[in-house]
Amino acid sequence: MDLLARARQMEAEGRSVLHLEVGEPDFPTPRPIIDAGIEALRKLKTHYTPALGLPELREKIARHYLEKYDVTVEPRRIIITPGASGALQLALSVLLDTDDKVLLTDPGYPCNRNMIRLLGAHSTPVDVGPDTQFQMNASHIEQFWDEATVAAMIASPSNPTGTMIADADLQALITAVDKAGGSLIIDEIYQGLVYSQNDQTALKYSDQVFVINSFSKYFGMTGWRLGWMIAPEEYVEAIDHVAQNLFLAAPTVAQHAALVAFEPETIDVLQHRVSMFKERRDYMLPVLKKMGFAIPVEPQGAFYIYADSSAITDDTFEWTSQLLEQEAVAVTPGIDFGEYQASTHVRFAYTRPVDELERACCRIARFIK
Ligand SMILES: Cc1ncc(COP(=O)(O)O)c(C=O)c1O
Repeated sequence: MDLLARARQMEAEGRSVLHLEVGEPDFPTPRPIIDAGIEALRKLKTHYTPALGLPELREKIARHYLEKYDVTVEPRRIIITPGASGALQLALSVLLDTDDKVLLTDPGYPCNRNMIRLLGAHSTPVDVGPDTQFQMNASHIEQFWDEATVAAMIASPSNPTGTMIADADLQALITAVDKAGGSLIIDEIYQGLVYSQNDQTALKYSDQVFVINSFSKYFGMTGWRLGWMIAPEEYVEAIDHVAQNLFLAAPTVAQHAALVAFEPETIDVLQHRVSMFKERRDYMLPVLKKMGFAIPVEPQGAFYIYADSSAITDDTFEWTSQLLEQEAVAVTPGIDFGEYQASTHVRFAYTRPVDELERACCRIARFIK
């Protein structure tokens, strides 16, 4: 956040900053979704929806799982939330009591540990590296699970690494968490933004996992604040109660707009964007490697590259700040995502067009020299 604030200040002073730190797609929301939102406003859809969401949208999401992943999900288990952020808060709220523990990958999405702390619970960082595709696996569960632990959280594809958990590892992880008597929360927010492996959902293997998802990333709707969760049947009532108290409901206009998110006309636009993200990733990977960054696991999804910078610097916090000052390129230091080898990693977000990425890489190469 400090880097972003400094980048904004530099822009206000007239410098052209290249942004490789931003974790949201540069593309606007697809036109059909915007039109459906405008239409919803014209039709005065301005009241609350039920706390668990518009029934039509819950059904559309169920159909999406059936058509795309061949998985049957009862619409009753689908909860519409204010972004994946709302879904994560609901899942953690119904699962955690004071002093419970949750296993989290380090590096991982930084807000998770803060949400856990807010609930008076504790996170146990699980250091992950290239040997496990930067993902938690069944042996980590055996190693780190203790009596106070009630849940484990992963994201696939992951932020900040863009790596995915392999199907067999996911099945083994689900079994291990189940055997430990806890719950697995899997954040599938980058689902659909997958480039060199089959897209997947954990729902294929279990109806006891909490699956988190969102319209923010693949659907390009960050500002609409809309996401969803699939919860095990026995938690739905408790989630309904918590949602009624925390949010009342997800934004109504956003829910009506999202009704067209799965239509072929929208998916065509989105799939074209996926191919553009792939092009950007394929541009960045060899260029970064040539500069001296190590990227031992090819990121298969999301729009991030988590690069090992140990050949260049062992203090990425200072390095990223100098890169911004001298070359006006903003990237995110590893420290944002945890502590494990954080000072020798940086995250590059390829959420800008290739020509901008090219300019950014020229500046980074010059800075390294
Ligand atoms: C892994 C992960 N989960 C959740 C979120 C929150 O997203 P949303 O906009 O849906 O609240 C993000 C946002 O960057 C993320 O990277």
